[in-house]
Amino acid sequence: MCGIVGYVGRGGTVAGSSGTAGHTALDVVMEGLRRLEYRGYDSAGVAVLGEDSIESRKKSGKLANLVAELNADPLPTSMTAIGHTRWATHGGPTDQNAHPHLGDQGRLALIHNGIIENFAEIKVRLRAEGHEFESETDTEVAAELLGSIYRGVVESGDGADDGVDHLTHAMQLTSRQLEGAFTLLAIHQDLPDIVVAARRNSPLVIGLGENENFLGSDVSGFIDFTRRAVELGQDQIVTITPESVSITDFDGVPAEGKEFHVDWDAAAAEKGGFPSFMEKEIHDQPEAVADTLLGRSDVDGKLMLDELRIDPAALKSVDKIIVLACGTSAYAGQVAKYAIEHWCRIPTEVELSHEFRYRDPIVTPNTLVVSISQSGETMDTLMAVRYAKEQGAKTLSICNTNGSTIPRESDAVLYTHAGPEIAVASTKAFLAQITAAYLLGLYLAQLRGNKFQGEIADIMTELGRIPAKIQEVLDHSEDVKQLAQEMAQTKSVLFLGRHVGFPVAMEGALKLKELAYIHAEGFAAGELKHGPIALIEEGQPVFVVVPSRRGRDSLHAKVVSNIQEIRARGAKTIVIAEEGDESVRDYAEHIFYIPETPPLLAPLLTTVPLQIFACALATAKGLDVDQPRNLAKSVTVE
Ligand code: M6R
Repeated sequence: MCGIVGYVGRGGTVAGSSGTAGHTALDVVMEGLRRLEYRGYDSAGVAVLGEDSIESRKKSGKLANLVAELNADPLPTSMTAIGHTRWATHGGPTDQNAHPHLGDQGRLALIHNGIIENFAEIKVRLRAEGHEFESETDTEVAAELLGSIYRGVVESGDGADDGVDHLTHAMQLTSRQLEGAFTLLAIHQDLPDIVVAARRNSPLVIGLGENENFLGSDVSGFIDFTRRAVELGQDQIVTITPESVSITDFDGVPAEGKEFHVDWDAAAAEKGGFPSFMEKEIHDQPEAVADTLLGRSDVDGKLMLDELRIDPAALKSVDKIIVLACGTSAYAGQVAKYAIEHWCRIPTEVELSHEFRYRDPIVTPNTLVVSISQSGETMDTLMAVRYAKEQGAKTLSICNTNGSTIPRESDAVLYTHAGPEIAVASTKAFLAQITAAYLLGLYLAQLRGNKFQGEIADIMTELGRIPAKIQEVLDHSEDVKQLAQEMAQTKSVLFLGRHVGFPVAMEGALKLKELAYIHAEGFAAGELKHGPIALIEEGQPVFVVVPSRRGRDSLHAKVVSNIQEIRARGAKTIVIAEEGDESVRDYAEHIFYIPETPPLLAPLLTTVPLQIFACALATAKGLDVDQPRNLAKSVTVE
């Protein structure tokens, strides 16, 4: 998830007069990047069209570093510019990997948001044709490809008959070759007043001005300059000049965009119109899961985790897995345990990072230590990974932050692609971590022959359906919010689950503690009778995550019995169950259904109502859900 801005224009018009507002292309792009920095902040860059050449500046680190670079080495005044703020996926957060990337021997600049799944094969082809690459990014491959196609179009005159400029035509041809998710913006020195963009499975909005037009990942990219915006559809190309906006599909067929007026204030625009980053991030989850799955399997469903970097032979010899993490990430680890043990038959332990190294753990060279961390900087987890390495274990990091310390110090890394998580409480990173853990489990099963290829492909197909199912849960969340508002004065809430529903119950409780400051506990439902049932009294709210009947039937029946037991003792039962499960209706005061899904994958759905509940309840109490008291996003002390 990166932030993208494009501008072409004559400095804007002062409202109510014919005078120019006097902003340069660079002013517009830098302001847009400042507002889009929440989308990624590990590097930033801009390119402008100078007198007769492309000039660009890019810098790793926050936008402030780029500002310093521009002060030290200013760019020429220009009417055309593109800018990018990066959340690294392919290639670490370095100056070299920062965007823009150049093509057509420096005559073209391109920025990109998304993941190009087939970049490796295109790179091989382009290398064979003599192209050279300076970065590790998929974006540079797209820039070189676009540059090379542009050259071909210019030389053959192809496309000119349609009245379409060469860059637009080249972008259409390029987009047809790319797989995955991408928003691409390009400028070329031959065409000084044009910005061309393409969009597939990745956001892009057009801003309309007077003698100027804009492009942005979202409207906050240009909200300081215009409130008139146009939605771009899937698989479309847009070409903006100061006076015009033209849209086609990838085949060059003209298309129309839908204009709308932006009535959010600038702060709301950064949050996609949601009142908080937390709510935005909960709603980002379909995209976070989809992006984490992108580029991980071939057309036959065979997993290709190329970035893992651990010799397959070494992975085959693994006889024990230890998952290390803290907080929400540790609950993702607990889900991972169920999946990995079931699919790969490798004994898997999950341990809180800060407990691990103080108990003399049994670690051998055949132990795979999997750390899970959104930030990649959690000191407890980093120390545990270092300790595991000292003991001779192989270390693999599941992480959301490219280039952070834990993946850098691990033998291998599997990045989640949730994009920056701004709210302190983790939501989308959690679902992305679980997704990555499934990928790891399936990959190990494939490598070690624990599953037939067809079985793995079937699970991948089911995983591919999850984003739409999360969206369904989000679209039907009004009742959850309503209940949360009614329960704003509640003092204590319990959460029960079994199997993969157990970590979900604990995550539901953690969300409520951190956001709403309410005492909450998550228990394995089977543990009730061993003590926690004493907590049940008249009116005690209890969430119960009910396993699917299509899993182990006996488990479903046992949880239904648990609901009856607590209901009989006065509990207010709030049930999360699978669509069509009527068996719980008589014992549930409230019931929220999630779409049918294979039982092991259910946490990707059952977690969502619990996040929404905690967020809505905290909001009803008037609390700041993005920055709860006493907490930090990244815990860099032990
Ligand atoms: O960055 P990490 O995933 O390593 O962070 C681990 C925990 O600190 C984190 O999950 C924490 O529990 C969050 N506040 C949960 O919402």
